[in-house]
Amino acid sequence: MKPFQYRDGQLSAEDLAIESLAAEVGTPFYLYSEGAVRGQLRDLKQALIAAGLDPLICYSMKANPSLAIMRALLDEGAGADVVSEGELRRALMAGVPPQKIVFAGVGKTAEEMRAGLEAGILQFNVESRDELLRLNQVAASLGRTATIALRVNPDVDARTHAKITTGTSENKFGIDIALAPEIMSQAAALDHIRLEGLAVHIGSQLTDLSPYAAAFSRLAELFQAARDAGHAMKRLDLGGGIGISYEDGTPPDFPAYAEIAKQAVGHLGIPLIFEPGRAIVGHAGLLISRVLYAKQGINRRFLILDAAMNDLIRPTLYDAWHDILPVAEPGPNTPLLPQDVVGPICESGDIFAEQRPLPELAPGDLVAICAAGAYGATMSSLYNSRLPAPEVLVRGGEFAVVKPRLDYEAMLRQERLPPWLADAPA
Ligand code: LLP
Repeated sequence: MKPFQYRDGQLSAEDLAIESLAAEVGTPFYLYSEGAVRGQLRDLKQALIAAGLDPLICYSMKANPSLAIMRALLDEGAGADVVSEGELRRALMAGVPPQKIVFAGVGKTAEEMRAGLEAGILQFNVESRDELLRLNQVAASLGRTATIALRVNPDVDARTHAKITTGTSENKFGIDIALAPEIMSQAAALDHIRLEGLAVHIGSQLTDLSPYAAAFSRLAELFQAARDAGHAMKRLDLGGGIGISYEDGTPPDFPAYAEIAKQAVGHLGIPLIFEPGRAIVGHAGLLISRVLYAKQGINRRFLILDAAMNDLIRPTLYDAWHDILPVAEPGPNTPLLPQDVVGPICESGDIFAEQRPLPELAPGDLVAICAAGAYGATMSSLYNSRLPAPEVLVRGGEFAVVKPRLDYEAMLRQERLPPWLADAPA
């Protein structure tokens, strides 16, 4: 399904014209298509099942932790991959059964471990010996046993952006695969730890799927060795990372990914966990913004939007490309001019696109910044004391504001003056 298309000269989200949504909600705002989110989950699940695998898809909430999105995915049978107590609470609040929740992350605190244990989650993905010992202590203090998977670092280069590659021995993630057997034996000796699996995640935004083959095969070998050593291993967690096409909107090739997983681990005949984030929600979201000003410089034309890097940091942080579409469909012969699409923040890095060919837009015109459903709203900040953008979910001809715009009073209520500065100078 194509969730965002031009209809009668207007970009629409499912069955709703974005222009009327913008008039109602105000800009900037994030706009998600429930149909697109559900569709991606279904497609991935179908591809995995068609390959003869037994998957539990634990949606990686870090990509977009919206309760509404988690609830829609839960409705499609998904579980959750969480990396903090905040995400755990969101997953539980959305109704995800604890037995479909995995807790990942390289630095879980004792409080977070306690929260996971009390909830009765499926597994903790443990990333170091220190963490293993801490988890054992926390579980002992609660009189519980923590079910774990060891996250191993297979030393495979995912060949993605340096800031989001995780699977080489130069990265902080996971336990070096060569050290895993020793840590598994140590885990087996701990009274409050039950080792049931292995996990891997080699990076994010993988557009070349071949590094998965190497990583999954190494994991399968280790799994077999662990079983041979007497560990009661039950499942593998193959992580997330499936990339999306930002420049032409082509969806990821789920069947090809499923085939790679099947080739590498299918023979084990065990349940598998997957932790996709971006591939599920990336193309299901837009950031809608209005042009505030068009400024013609000597060398460049700038479109100054009411959205900024605090709303969507990816172009600034990763030099990421996001398509930008005018909400009013340009006619077939409309000339395109290279323009810099920027936000109002006082930094030169506050830029969504450089020299992007677009029609000559004017103040008041709306644009849609595409593929903003993943790592968009969730990475936003209050920089420049700008209010966070609201979030809207569309289903067919209906919409709901699933995260209203904060007001300035609420923003300011979060702070206190110290008593010694409480009185304003006379
Ligand atoms: N599992 C683990 C252990 C992860 O670290 C991640 C992402 C995922 C699953 C989900 O990966 P995905 O399927 O979404 O690629 N902010 C960056 C992406 C950071 C990804 C961090 N880990 C961006 O905007 O590109």
